[in-house]
Amino acid sequence: MTTLTLDEKLDIIEKYDANPEQILNILVDLQFASEAGYLDDETIKLVAECLHLTQTRVSEIVSFYSILKDQPQAKYVIKVCNSSPCRFSHGPLVFAELEKQLGVKENQMTADGLFMYHGIPCFGACDRDPVVKIKDTVFDQLTAEKISQLLMGLRNGQYPDL
Ligand code: FES
Repeated sequence: MTTLTLDEKLDIIEKYDANPEQILNILVDLQFASEAGYLDDETIKLVAECLHLTQTRVSEIVSFYSILKDQPQAKYVIKVCNSSPCRFSHGPLVFAELEKQLGVKENQMTADGLFMYHGIPCFGACDRDPVVKIKDTVFDQLTAEKISQLLMGLRNGQYPDL
């Protein structure tokens, strides 16, 4: 898994003129530009130095925003809509099925490092519920069987056509 070089990190910070008011954009860009998918201590320290903030302050911001992560993420992070329309229809079934099939609770990584899942706000696929999103791909109208096929496909390194 590749991580960003120091120069690549500095480029992202400079893109926002190292402006503390842009810290959320800076942290989001740093996180998503890195394959590791999280902000490690070294990156948090660098942001603090460049933006003239304390490391504690930057860590607090990372903890506050659920989109930001300070721990390694699984290879496949399955995002489940938890906004009201999905939550009051099939969302709970998706969470329950993922817990059953993966054997871990929300935000826990499977022992093989392949999967974790968590809720996120509406991503605009409400009419195709039950839905999940992995990176930019939405898998819709899910059933227990389709979730099983999805996980099997991903274990084989493929995004299945459900
Ligand atoms: S409310 Fe769930 S995708 Fe929109």
